[in-house]
Amino acid sequence: MPVQVWAVLGPTASTSRFEALHPSGMTTFVGREDEYELVWRRWLKARQGQGQTVLLSGEAGVGKSRLALAFSERLKDERYLRIHCFCSPQHTNSALHPIIDHVERSAAFARDDPLEKKLDKLDTLLRQSWSSAEDSALFVEMLSLPNDGRYPVLGLAPRLRRQRTMDALVRQVEILSSSGPLLVIFEDAHWADPTSLELIGRLVGHIASHRVLIISFWPEFGAPWIEQAHVTALSLNRLSPHDVDVMIDHIVGNNPLPAAVRQDIVERTDGIPLFVEEMTKAVLETASEDEARRTVALVPSRRTAVPPTLHASLMARLDRLGAARELAQIGAAIGREFSHELLAAVTWWPEAKLEMQLDKLIRVAVPPGRAARGDLFVQTRSRAGCGLWLAAARAKTPPSCSNRCNPREQV
Ligand SMILES: Nc1ncnc2c1ncn2[C@@H]1O[C@H](COP(=O)(O)OP(=O)(O)OP(=O)(O)O)[C@@H](O)[C@H]1O
Ligand SMILES: [Mg+2]
Repeated sequence: MPVQVWAVLGPTASTSRFEALHPSGMTTFVGREDEYELVWRRWLKARQGQGQTVLLSGEAGVGKSRLALAFSERLKDERYLRIHCFCSPQHTNSALHPIIDHVERSAAFARDDPLEKKLDKLDTLLRQSWSSAEDSALFVEMLSLPNDGRYPVLGLAPRLRRQRTMDALVRQVEILSSSGPLLVIFEDAHWADPTSLELIGRLVGHIASHRVLIISFWPEFGAPWIEQAHVTALSLNRLSPHDVDVMIDHIVGNNPLPAAVRQDIVERTDGIPLFVEEMTKAVLETASEDEARRTVALVPSRRTAVPPTLHASLMARLDRLGAARELAQIGAAIGREFSHELLAAVTWWPEAKLEMQLDKLIRVAVPPGRAARGDLFVQTRSRAGCGLWLAAARAKTPPSCSNRCNPREQV
């Protein structure tokens, strides 16, 4: 029997993970009035030349990308420039990947463009920002394109080239903002490579007197420059039951749901818009109320399980934790709350090692500003972020860890 086979030809033209997941539009934006207003006020300041940075944090699926998009839509009648960068888990070690990707998209490179055409497109783009010949040569090297003779040959040692490239990128932002307000959106910094992170840090330090607003999603670790006056940390909480209700209304349109099913969705999705969308759509595909209720019941309560959409990403992040991963696993076997002393007793680790790994786990797993050592997991009882980590960790906990502890409570 013939079997149909498929081959991957290349990446799609989608600009982001968000866009790729929404080929046919998205749910009407609900709630978030305060957050939206705050970003707007920061934009007004930035527009007047008092550069601003907003650090958005919040658990996966809570609506960070959607808020940034809703805000960009509000600017549709304004004259401004936008740089939109996306970090991805596949490129955590590729230097400046989010920036390279942005430049390639802005220059409209096509996959099969010959070198000359790519360089022509790049030249057109760089002319808009009056880049010097040296800066253009640095950008060509950054994009790993051969210099066909139209740029000066720089011959810089790697360290110096990195330094000069960063300087040139900061200069670009300055130049662009001199011709109009500039919005820089830098999504999912937890996946950024170290060079991009350093660049963002430099930009934040640099833009205070420029017409620039940087919105960066910074969910897992505190940024060293968070204390600066022009930096605002904005944490996105879950949606209220009322907002979830409104979201459901938008999704179901003219197909009203039985009250009990609707109530189930509100309870089980626990205010995470991503799950509200997924569960409501799944229910809409069912043929009867009974089937709808069974469908909803199939999805474990948010209190007991990690949704599959998050599971893979949490697992990958757990794997990168090294020894701290074992701490998460031991913690997961103990329960949702545990003390420093109990961890010390179970791990038998020297205090210095325990401290170091606990710090690492707190930095990665707990929303910034929420964790205080000692009551790490008590603090996060009401936030799913860390609970999800623990539930994912439990799925990876080897018997050697879980046998050391008695499971006490479901995460
Ligand atoms: N306020 C909102 N109103 C309506 N839909 C929303 C809202 N917030 C989020 N959504 C929808 O929920 C889904 C998840 O949102 P989004 O992708 O923005 O989350 P995220 O925080 O960026 O997640 P991740 O960390 O995985 O990137 C999207 O389909 C989005 O359209
Ligand atoms: Mg997102």
